[in-house]
This record gives sequence, structure tokens and C-alpha cells, in this order.
Amino acid sequence: MKLNKLTGAIIATSALMLGAHTALAAEVEVLHWWTSGGEAKSVVELKKMMEAKGDSWKDFAVSGGGGENAMTVLKSRVVAGNPPTAAQIKGPSIQEWGAEGVLADLSSTAAAGKWDSLLPPVVSKVMKYKGNYVAVPVNVHRVNWMWVNPEVFKKAGAKVPTTWAEFPAAADKLQKAGFIAIAHGGQPWQDFTIFETVVLGTGGPEFFQKALVELDPGALNSATMEKSFNNFRMLRKYVDKDFSGRDWNLATQMVIQGKAGVQFMGDWAKGEFTAAGKKPGVDYLCVDAPGTKGDYTFNIDSFVMFKQSSPDAAKGQEDLANAIMSPQFQEVFNLNKGSIPARLDVSMAKFDDCAKKSNADFVASSKGGSLLPSIAHGMAVPAASAGAIQDVVTQFFNSEMTTKMAIEKLAAAAKMK
Ligand code: BGC
Repeated sequence: MKLNKLTGAIIATSALMLGAHTALAAEVEVLHWWTSGGEAKSVVELKKMMEAKGDSWKDFAVSGGGGENAMTVLKSRVVAGNPPTAAQIKGPSIQEWGAEGVLADLSSTAAAGKWDSLLPPVVSKVMKYKGNYVAVPVNVHRVNWMWVNPEVFKKAGAKVPTTWAEFPAAADKLQKAGFIAIAHGGQPWQDFTIFETVVLGTGGPEFFQKALVELDPGALNSATMEKSFNNFRMLRKYVDKDFSGRDWNLATQMVIQGKAGVQFMGDWAKGEFTAAGKKPGVDYLCVDAPGTKGDYTFNIDSFVMFKQSSPDAAKGQEDLANAIMSPQFQEVFNLNKGSIPARLDVSMAKFDDCAKKSNADFVASSKGGSLLPSIAHGMAVPAASAGAIQDVVTQFFNSEMTTKMAIEKLAAAAKMK
């Protein structure tokens, strides 16, 4: 990401000008992309908490799953010298924004709140730029889930698959019984979400780390990657004809309503099941995606604050950071969102079995070396490389591109910086 060199100066000047007109109560303008049913219920909890602190919330929601639209809008606001107070940014992008010199330093708030002792290192590391906190984590999402409608499986006489090799037999039965096997939304980030899960389930955690985190040329150009693409292509025949462009939450609805058997999606999908009043283990199942038992691709949502010079804005930012890190928020937000708290000390007592499994697998996988950053959700590599790889994955899924060609293109895309 490259912003105009003048950006920092423009921001400072416009912040001063804004400061001169600011009213007493701090207004926080917060950019996010949480617009689905479950997401909206979650973000409203943050708004309520800020209002209880006497701050006013200016909602800056930019719809579009995965956040690509939100990031485009954010860049134009920052380049115009008018950044929001806070924005949902995550993973290596935090470093890219940090390097632009536009992020507020949250060190003193973090030190006062003892964030270092409350957050697991895998989380706190992502939140820091040059050793200082510049971001606040709201949750940990797990990506490698398969959401199952058990009733649909029962009616079709199909067994829930645990490997990619088992998948076609189950999916054929679902289709023969008149169901859509896979509820999918054909948007590049959703294709990429499935792809990374397939790579993990095909090659295992070490392979995932080499190929999709380190972008190791040998792993990218390997028989295992070829097998991954073949498995990915196999899934293409199990989506319905209307899949192109469909939003992820509409795909989740297809599972909820018993039209489809499964969806491969991170546990923000659980937020939709929860919002629809559905119970895990009864109305739906959360199971490890085929071949990924106990492995964990993580996706941590977080907020950064942009430098502002008015004291009111700084108060609003401190309030927001403290609200996000509070155990009350971490509990209620994540109960709605489908994720688990980023803080280690929040009780899991009120959480359902899927969240408890996520929590247990998070801890176990971090010890066993299979806790991995999601490339599809901006946690593993810089945005430019992730975007270029995503393009290849989407083109492959939506064309007759050969596996050999896909691997060649993948190697070229991985070199994008
Ligand atoms: C975010 C989630 C969000 C999902 C769908 C992911 O990248 O981390 O918080 O619910 O996209 O928009």
C-alpha cells in the first residue's frame, strides 16, 4: 500500500481544523464491514458501550464480505486527509498502515490495561507496529469450518465427510436427494476461503505454512498443490447454478433453511445461525472441514485508530480501545459474532459448544504447530500478494484453466509485493 507522501501532513492539518470545531462529546467515526444480521447485532454492542461512556458513535459501515470494499473506501478517505477515528484493519495490513505514519500509538492505554498479559502472543504480535500497540483485537475467528445441516444429511442418507476423498460420495447423495450440496457465494474472497481450507485439508499444516504463509516456490509448485487444485475443482460441480456473486450470509441461509447440505466458511457464519435462533448440535453442526481435524486457520478482527490532533478525538479513541478490551465487550460481542474472545481470561461459560471447541482447538493447535494465519482473510501475507493469489484461485474455479497453468500463475502471483 502506498499513500501520497503528503498524506500525513494533510491529515495533521485537517485534524487541527476539525479540532477547532469539535463539540465537547467525543464523536467516534468507526469504519467496519459488519452488515449481515449476525454482524450488525455484534457491532451494535460496541456502539451501546461507547454511548454509555458519553461518546457518540458515527457508523461508517461499508458492506461487502471480507472487507475489500471497506479497504478501498478507507484508502480514499485517508488520501483525502480525512481518516475516520477508527477502522477495522487486520493482519499484515496493520504493518503497512503503520509504515505510512498515520496510526495513533496506543502504548499508554495498552500499558495501563496490561494488554500484554491479557492477550496470547499470537494475537498481540499482530497488534503491534515496531513494538508498540497500534491496534486492538476484538476476537479470534476460525476459518476452517464446515457448517452442516444434519436434517439434510439424514434425508439424503449421507454421512458427514471427514476427508476430501470422502466428500464426493456424500455430495452425490445430497444432490440425488434434490439438495444443493455446497452453499457457496461466488465472490473471489469466498472462493479463496474454500481454497485455503482445501489446501490445509489436502497437504496438512506444514504444507499450508510453507505454501500459503511463506510462499515457498517449491511448495507452490508441487504435487501436493496440484492435488489441492484438483480437490478444489472437484467442489465446483457441487455448487448450484446461481452461485455467482451471492453474498456469504445468503449462502448460510441456504443451510439454515435446509436447501443445502454444507457451507465452508469461517465462524462468522455461526453469527447467522445464532441470529436465526438455531442451536448447534441440534439444528446445525460445526465440524472441522475435511482433513483439518484440530488444525486451526485463524482470522483476528481488530481496529486501528488514526492520528487526530483534537483532544476530544483522543479521548474517544481511548474509550473505544478500553471498551473493546473490556471482558464485558469481549463476551457479548463474540457471543453474537460466532468468534471467541481475543483475551485469554474471559470465561467461556456462556458460549456454545462450537465456540468451546474453537477455544480448545486454538490452545491445542498453538502448542502442536497447527495454528495458522488465514491467507484469505488477510492474516498471512501482504495484501498485494494475497490479492494476486486470490485472482488465480478465482479464475481457476470459474474456468477450464488446467491445474498446471494454475500452479504456474500461482508462482508468479506469489512474487507480487
Ligand atoms: C471478517 C469477519 C467478517 C467476514 C465477513 C471476515 O474477513 O474477519 O469479521 O464477518 O469477513 O464479512
